[in-house]
Amino acid sequence: MNPPFPDPGLGLPGPATMPEPGPGVAAAPRVEVAGLRAFYGDVEALAGVDLEVPANAVTALIGASGSGKTTLLRCINRLHEEVPRARLEGRVTVDGIDVYGPAIELPAVRRVVGMVFQRPTPFPSMSVYDNVAVGLRLAGARGPAVRETVVAALEVVGLWDELGHRLGVPAVSLSGGQQQRLCIARALAPDPAVILMDEPCSALDPIATLRIERLIGELTANHTIVLVTHNMQQAARVADTIVFMMDGRVIEHSPALELFTRPRDVRTERYVTGNFG
Ligand SMILES: Nc1ncnc2c1ncn2[C@@H]1O[C@H](COP(=O)(O)OP(=O)(O)O)[C@@H](O)[C@H]1O
Ligand SMILES: [Mg+2]
Repeated sequence: MNPPFPDPGLGLPGPATMPEPGPGVAAAPRVEVAGLRAFYGDVEALAGVDLEVPANAVTALIGASGSGKTTLLRCINRLHEEVPRARLEGRVTVDGIDVYGPAIELPAVRRVVGMVFQRPTPFPSMSVYDNVAVGLRLAGARGPAVRETVVAALEVVGLWDELGHRLGVPAVSLSGGQQQRLCIARALAPDPAVILMDEPCSALDPIATLRIERLIGELTANHTIVLVTHNMQQAARVADTIVFMMDGRVIEHSPALELFTRPRDVRTERYVTGNFG
């Protein structure tokens, strides 16, 4: 986790510095969005978004309800196109590859770009083990590799220690925080480069929330995270850079400390000083 910085007057803790790129970390952005417009029928939800998401870091999307945060996430892993009458224009690339390119198959996009939703969404009729294994089996994995991957994913999220001997229990018997960590393990199993998280802690208590925030920080060693949050303190605690959205546009994208202490746009300043969510 990032160290807190002295209270800037907003009551917000936050990261003190930008992350140092580690050995082997690519300088190129992991996700790049250019000229993205998204529509639901006649409603324009994204009105021309340009965004570079740095690799191996947490990028937080903040902004009022309806500003387009969820739509932006859903355009990155191509969930948007599953809404009837939805369409989009523009480009989304992951490591330089256009996810809407004609040669790209949808399952490949979903393997590279995983997603965690607002409420825990484990498969209710399945065991803890099967929740993580099912995607791997669907992707064709068989034999000991499945178990090794499931165990590794459960270890990362801390569920192996808690449930290692009870992996056959139904997922719905877990606490909300455990269920959400199980969903993160499920997202991790195919080893995605990018993980999208849409307000993943909004249904959780403060202890479970802190547990997941710590995990998000750890995941950046191997993954690029885009996190939607309505909680300013959470953005300050976990994000390396923060994107402020309004009316389907990116108003400002800055290092977390800078966005809170020296916002460049008056609209950002109004939002971060008026919302303690
Ligand atoms: N399924 C949908 N059908 C029609 N309009 C939608 C749908 N989902 C979102 N919208 C509209 O798109 C805009 C952006 O919504 P959304 O991306 O959910 O914002 P946020 O996640 O920031 O709250 C809003 O005006 C919202 O009403
Ligand atoms: Mg949303």
